[in-house]
Amino acid sequence: MTDRAEIIRTEAVTKRFGGLVAVDQVSYRLKQYDVAGIIGSNGAGKTTFFNLLTGYYQPDEGVIRFREEDITRMSPQQRVARGLMRTFQLTSTFDNLSVVDNLVLAFFRAHRKATLFQLLRNTRKRLWHDPKILHTLETFSLQGLRDRMVKNLSLGEKRRLEIAMAVLTEPTVLLLDEPLAGLAESEIQGVLDVLRMQVGRQTILIVEHKLSHVQKFLQRLTVMHEGRVIADGDPDECLHHPEVRRSYWQIEVTAGDQGAPA
Ligand SMILES: Nc1ncnc2c1ncn2[C@@H]1O[C@H](COP(=O)(O)OP(=O)(O)OP(=O)(O)O)[C@@H](O)[C@H]1O
Ligand SMILES: [Mg+2]
Repeated sequence: MTDRAEIIRTEAVTKRFGGLVAVDQVSYRLKQYDVAGIIGSNGAGKTTFFNLLTGYYQPDEGVIRFREEDITRMSPQQRVARGLMRTFQLTSTFDNLSVVDNLVLAFFRAHRKATLFQLLRNTRKRLWHDPKILHTLETFSLQGLRDRMVKNLSLGEKRRLEIAMAVLTEPTVLLLDEPLAGLAESEIQGVLDVLRMQVGRQTILIVEHKLSHVQKFLQRLTVMHEGRVIADGDPDECLHHPEVRRSYWQIEVTAGDQGAPA
């Protein structure tokens, strides 16, 4: 696995809001099929960094590359069009349509050029039986919810659908900002289970506030603090890194972490 292609590389990326340096000289690399996480306490710069990757913000300094191409000044739409990534924000659900219709729309928007109107009129029902849609319903445990209106789903079910929709568009990187936020403990496992199905097929980058949920899932961890990366690598080693222990102890650390600050 040493020669996996590099997908994303940031070089000393900085983003300021007035006098505040929200992201400070962050150099980050993501390789194909990485299952990586970025954690950090409140205001560490995680969401800002995420927004720099998606193009929602542009950095004040530094370069962002996608497969070596400089995408620093590209819009979110240009990045999506290149297949770089999908995020929740870019794959919002239609709450008055059924689960299966949402999947069909996500699939259609990514792969064909037709207006929504044409789609709803002509081809929607045919696509209900498309092997890709059927496979997605199965993989994400959505068969039983197939005809349910999205507005009647629980938050955990809706999160599974959102991830399914993102995966259907076959992004190079599945970028998720706090995919577990707001979920009950019982729903978290369901979402992690569907993400686990993508390991080895999909490059995954998760930005999370709560470490305990994703610690076992991640193969690689990056810890941010006050805009800077203070540790990067094997999750367990990262957590025992002196600077992480010093500056990051506000973050919940699970009971199993011997050596973590009390
Ligand atoms: N649009 C903005 N305008 C001004 N300041 C901002 C803006 N967005 C973020 N900030 C500031 O930048 C810093 C980093 O914020 P960011 O949202 O990236 O943190 P975070 O790591 O995602 O935190 P959280 O865990 O709370 O989601 C914070 O001090 C925040 O107040
Ligand atoms: Mg955030």
